[in-house]
Amino acid sequence: MLRLESDSIQSFLGGDDLSAIRPEVAVAHRTLLEKSGAGREFLGWRDLLTNPNDALLQDISATADEIRREADVLLCIGIGGSYLGARAVIQALTPYFSRREVGTSPEILFAGHHMSGAYVRELLDHLNGKSVYVNVISKSGTTLEPALAFRFINRWMEDRFADLERRIIVTTDPSEGALNVLHRKRGYRKYVIPPEVGGRFSVLTPVGLLPIAAAGIDILSLFYGAASACERYERTDDNPALDYAAARYALLRKGYSTELLAVFEPRLLGMGHWWQQLFGEREGKGGNGLFPAVVQYSTDLHSVGQYVQEGMRTLIETFLMVENDGGSVTVPVSKQDLDGLDYLAAKPMTAINRAAYEGTAAAHTGGGVPNMTLWIDRITPGEVGETIYFFEHAVAVGCYLLGINPFDQPGVEAYKREMFWRLGRQT
Ligand code: PA5
Repeated sequence: MLRLESDSIQSFLGGDDLSAIRPEVAVAHRTLLEKSGAGREFLGWRDLLTNPNDALLQDISATADEIRREADVLLCIGIGGSYLGARAVIQALTPYFSRREVGTSPEILFAGHHMSGAYVRELLDHLNGKSVYVNVISKSGTTLEPALAFRFINRWMEDRFADLERRIIVTTDPSEGALNVLHRKRGYRKYVIPPEVGGRFSVLTPVGLLPIAAAGIDILSLFYGAASACERYERTDDNPALDYAAARYALLRKGYSTELLAVFEPRLLGMGHWWQQLFGEREGKGGNGLFPAVVQYSTDLHSVGQYVQEGMRTLIETFLMVENDGGSVTVPVSKQDLDGLDYLAAKPMTAINRAAYEGTAAAHTGGGVPNMTLWIDRITPGEVGETIYFFEHAVAVGCYLLGINPFDQPGVEAYKREMFWRLGRQT
């Protein structure tokens, strides 16, 4: 189970700042549970956990088994909430280095999350000669990046495979949008994104679950890890998601403006990017909210470490840490200590990484960066599921604390209007 350590932020807050906002936090929490706040029609991400659809989970697993049997590559096309969750979970729960063997996981690739022509060209080259399945994921079916990527891929697939109704799977709105047209006219298989689940909350719907299952990850444990967290986090006391929301809110009110989510295990970096979208698209409205940024330590201590230690004092930091990281290697003993590292001989790498974390937290506290730590025990499907729900619950409560609708994103339309005008789109 997740554990939040936040004692050290006390020295950055007034004595009773946190206890003073407790009543507000309780109201925001009730607003979420009672579905009485703005955007209440988009709380499907909780409903799907309180009323699990096991038949759907089985169906997704069966499709994933077929993909694992038949495909060399599963190409997932989507952007924002339509790819970040799947990428995060797959990165967290699959080996750093893996070799494809027949009947095991296909290579999972992502496209449609930017508009690089070079990427498309090289992707098509890479796919040549391989057995390819495509999962194109777009709730609206109108987002330019995935729609464009799919136009290239669809054409490429038409030229190579006769059984596209098996190989192309659309994940989209129940009835609207271009992907539904393709589903109806071409017979492509379809999974539905529930209308009451917003993109960044959709990782536990077919949006995330199909690619995750195709990667060989146990989606039942993932899903039910989140479902148990959803039940546990209904309580007001001893609720780390509320503690996290409260701490961020108190620090925002003190004038801090940026939150760094720092991971020390590289496979959690994708979770950081998913978190960044969840919080960025939820809180960043009306001149409000903490700007979410992701860093991977110790790597980035050698790039932004100087700034974090001594730059503008507007940063807070949340470490996402793993208690048992599976890295049971120890430093080799050497005969002559030519590299001067004998003081570390026989020490586990995990302990060295832990010392780096403890040293960083202490140094940053000393440098004026309030920080807290969210501890995961082990990176398992169940704990990743809990982590997903933890952040979803915290962001919803955090938005209600700020008086913001957690489920809309009016600001992202501005760049699209400017872009489409330049591209000559009429409507
Ligand atoms: O979280 C969101 O709502 C967005 O990030 C969307 O997921 C993203 O814009 C993609 O939208 P769509 O799935 O409609 O293509």
